[in-house]
Amino acid sequence: MPRKVRLGIMGLGTVGSGLVELIKKNARLIENKSDVKLEIVRALVLHKNKPRPLPPEQVTTNPNDLFEDKTIDLLVEVIGGIHPAKEYIVQAFDSGKDVVTANKAVLATHGDEIFNAASRNQKQIGFEASVCGGIPILRAISSGLIGNRVDELYGILNGTSNFVLTTMQEERVPFSDALAMAQSKGLAEADPTLDVNGMDAAHKLMILAELTFQTKMRFDDVIVEGIENLQPIDFETAESLGYVIRPTAVARRMEDRLDLRVHPCFVPKNHPLATVRNEFNAVIIRGDAIGEMVFHGKGAGSLPTASAVLSDIVEIARNPNSTPLWNPTRTIQSAPVELASRFYLRFPIYDRPGMIGMISTCLGAHGISITDAIARLTCTETNQGNVMIVIHSAPETEVRKALAEIQESGALNADPLSIRILEN
Ligand code: HSE
Repeated sequence: MPRKVRLGIMGLGTVGSGLVELIKKNARLIENKSDVKLEIVRALVLHKNKPRPLPPEQVTTNPNDLFEDKTIDLLVEVIGGIHPAKEYIVQAFDSGKDVVTANKAVLATHGDEIFNAASRNQKQIGFEASVCGGIPILRAISSGLIGNRVDELYGILNGTSNFVLTTMQEERVPFSDALAMAQSKGLAEADPTLDVNGMDAAHKLMILAELTFQTKMRFDDVIVEGIENLQPIDFETAESLGYVIRPTAVARRMEDRLDLRVHPCFVPKNHPLATVRNEFNAVIIRGDAIGEMVFHGKGAGSLPTASAVLSDIVEIARNPNSTPLWNPTRTIQSAPVELASRFYLRFPIYDRPGMIGMISTCLGAHGISITDAIARLTCTETNQGNVMIVIHSAPETEVRKALAEIQESGALNADPLSIRILEN
C-alpha cells in the first residue's frame, strides 16, 4: 500500500498553482517512484473570486479550515512575506502538521522561532524551495556533500535580478523595462524591491551559509548591495572590457569568521557564472574532497519551485523521523571582513574642466591605481556625463573613502557607482 499524504496548501499564487499543476500531472509517476500518494485536501487563498486550479469547495479564505482539519498531514506554505506566513507556519506545527515552505524571508529572519516550533511538536520542516527554486542545493549540501569541509560558496541566487541584468546587457533596455519583463514572466516576488535590492538573495545566502557552516548568523551582518543604480552605459563599458554584469552572492570562511555578501559583479566572459543567464541560478561550492562543483538551473518560476516543494513533501513522507537539516551547535562571528578587490567605478559628473584629473588625484591619494579610464558626455544639453574607471585591486575601505571625498567635492550630479570585479 502506498503511503498517503494529505496536503493543505497555504497560497495559490505562482508557486501554489504550480504545485497543484505538478501534482495533477505527475501524481502517478511520483507514486511509482516513491510509493507516496499525494492528495490535495484544501487550499487557503486571500480572495475567493479569482480563477483557481482547484474546485471552489476545496478553496477557503479561513486558515482554521486547514489547521483544524485533522485529516491534513502536511501544510505547504507558499504565501511568501513574513506576516502572516510566520504565524501560520508556527500554528501548523502546533496543530500537529509537518510543514514545507518556499519562504526564505521568514526563515532568514525568524528561523529560530520556526525551528523551535517544529522541534517542540516533533514535526518536520522542508525548505528546499526557499533557495534557488528547482535546484536541489540544500539537499546536496546537507547530504550529498556532507563529507566535505566547505570554505566557500558563491553564485547567483536571484532569478529576477539575473533576468534583469541579462536583459539589460543583451537587449540594451533600461532597468524599468527589464524589471517589467521579469514580473510578467512570474519571476519576481510580489514586491520586487527585495529582488532588485539584493535582500532576496541575502535571505537565501544566509540559509545556504547556515546549513553549510552549521552555525547561526545575524542577518544584519550580510553586506547587501542592489542592482537598481546600474545604467545601460555600465553594460556597454563591461562589454568593451570583456565582462558581463551578474548579481552575485558569496559566503566565505575567513579563519574564525564568515564573510557574507550580495552585490552585482563584473564577471569575465569566460567565467562559469557568465553563462548563467536570465532566471537561471547557479551555486559554485568549493569542498576539500570535491574541489569545485557547479549547480545550475532555474531558480525562480512556478514549476521549478513547485518541483522543490514536491521533493520535500516526498522526503518527509518517506523519512518522517529524520533529523533536521539545520541543527546549529555554535555561533560563528559573521562580521564583514576587510577585503581588497578590483573595482569598476562610475562617476556621474558635471562637464567642467579638470574633472578626470580631480578624480584620479583623489584615487591616487588613497593609493588606488587606475587601469582603464573612459569619459563620456551622455547628455550635452545639461552638461552632464560619466567618467568610468577600472582600478587595480585596492582595499574596500580606501575605495569607499575616496568615493566619499569625490562626492563631497561637489563635482558629481548623482551618487558614484562601484562594482567589484570577479577574478578568474
Ligand atoms: N523572486 C525570486 C527570484 C523567486 O527571482 O529568484 C524565488 O525565490
